[in-house]
Amino acid sequence: MTEKPKAPALRSRAWFDNAGNPDMTALYLERYLNFGLSQEELQSGKPIIGIAQTGSDLSPCNRHHLELAKRLREGIREAGGIAIEFPVHPIQETGKRPTASLDRNLAYLSLVEILYGYPLDGVVLTIGCDKTTPALLMAAATVNIPAIALSVGPMLNGWFRGERTGSGTVVWKAREMMAAGEIDYEGFVRLVASSAPSTGYCNTMGTATTMNSLAEALGMQLPGSAAIPAPYRDRQEMAWRTGLRIVDMVHEDIKPSDVMTRDAFINAIRVNSAIGGSTNAPIHLTAIARHLGVELSIDDWQTYGESIPLLVNLQPAGEYLGEDYYHAGGVPAVVNQLMSAGLINEGVLTVNGRSIGENCRDAAIADEKVIRPFGKPLKENAGFRVLKGNLFDSAIMKLSVISEEFRARYLSNPEDPMAFEGRAIVFDGPEDYHARIDDPALAIDEESILFMRGAGPIGYPGAAEVVNMRAPDYLIKRGVTSLPCIGDGRQSGTSGSPSILNASPEAAANGGLAILRTGDRVRIDLRNCTANILVSEEEINQRRSELEKAGGYAYPAHQTPWQEIQRGMVAQLEAGMVLEPAVNYQ
Ligand code: FES
Ligand code: MG
Repeated sequence: MTEKPKAPALRSRAWFDNAGNPDMTALYLERYLNFGLSQEELQSGKPIIGIAQTGSDLSPCNRHHLELAKRLREGIREAGGIAIEFPVHPIQETGKRPTASLDRNLAYLSLVEILYGYPLDGVVLTIGCDKTTPALLMAAATVNIPAIALSVGPMLNGWFRGERTGSGTVVWKAREMMAAGEIDYEGFVRLVASSAPSTGYCNTMGTATTMNSLAEALGMQLPGSAAIPAPYRDRQEMAWRTGLRIVDMVHEDIKPSDVMTRDAFINAIRVNSAIGGSTNAPIHLTAIARHLGVELSIDDWQTYGESIPLLVNLQPAGEYLGEDYYHAGGVPAVVNQLMSAGLINEGVLTVNGRSIGENCRDAAIADEKVIRPFGKPLKENAGFRVLKGNLFDSAIMKLSVISEEFRARYLSNPEDPMAFEGRAIVFDGPEDYHARIDDPALAIDEESILFMRGAGPIGYPGAAEVVNMRAPDYLIKRGVTSLPCIGDGRQSGTSGSPSILNASPEAAANGGLAILRTGDRVRIDLRNCTANILVSEEEINQRRSELEKAGGYAYPAHQTPWQEIQRGMVAQLEAGMVLEPAVNYQ
């Protein structure tokens, strides 16, 4: 019989029980006693478990974590740990100006300081709303102390006149209904609000459901926990189980770097395709991987993810919502389908101490309308294609969301079936687009390709979700509802448009988009994965030197100190939009 390895010394001892430095120990101790903890507890040798609390009145999506923390504490206490709860900088996707993604790295940075600088032996990451999940996983990756994630869970399904209404996606529908006079402003608000019937995060397959599913696929949550709706009793139970488990993880010394290996990321890439995950996922997974020192390139998304079929039938790509996803089997059922096709690295360790293969092997689909078997997918090839050329080093596109209308108009040349050319119409940021999209002087027609630049991590600090643009009114009246869109910004996870996005480097980093002009011919070849401006090398050099003389691509002034600090050190979307110097700390 092999002896169980001795548990490592607890890092909290350096604060609360340091024989070599009794003065400091006394000082550290006394203030943690002032709200009722005892010296006996703090010097008991029990692990101190942080609860990184993302819920607050400013963060409605994650607010239910304030309740869940009570059950978490009970689990921690029962397993022999001591819980210490502390706030995380709030990130509310729908409430933060100019964009919530500006704050992902700020929350990351402050959480690193907390995890490093306070007497914590392990931590529970309370994840949920879009950017909270990557921010917390990134910080856990950097500090690399035992960590487990607890999702807050999606809202209940929204309903309106007997139909499911999903968060984010319902807004598009409500706008159309109001434009058609079917509902007034009051009706518009009621319809939109119907999609948010309870506490929890977006019930559609947007960035939140995506990132919570991927946190489970990466092995960082207890199996089956990501999809449980926020108000369900199972969610409370999962909080308690998560509390129990983190204490054992500290004793077993299971760290984020033991769980989130390259194999785990490849699993997550494949799960992302199968669930129809958001185009924000590559940005966030790259960031987490970089903070761990795990190699993960944008090309890996095409290599491992593109050919994976879409199995999950959730809005916006499909019909159903978060509750249905849970009842159908959630992440374990999806993973098991991929396992049946040999597409999961089954040996990867997860936070429960077992492998993902062991966790998911028996996970059956409970409702095939919502989660399809691998052999009967909703769509083939649901992942991302990576395009390159003189417009950018990389940008991604989901080929599976290309509509029949789009295919017929742009991709029907039998000689050249996956390529199209058009005249570039260039907008500098969302304000410019809103001001000019209906301007007849731009002469936008069905041959036009809309470009959005100045929307990347530097140009629109944090990168705006603005790449999908509508066609001008005069074209919509002629029946042309969508034009190809390309840009250096992001796209909302709840939008299903076939845009080419996350272009890196962005215009504000003087990437190829910075020298593009309205009227240029552009060629997109989806088979050969290229995107190019069709102008001569000479012309490109000429424009480059003009750009240089002008001092580079101009973008709006900083509005806050953080915007300026981040702009000075932020990586491009392809490289995870991380704070570049932070990658050196592992
Ligand atoms: Fe918070 Fe969608 S707005 S999850
Ligand atoms: Mg979003």
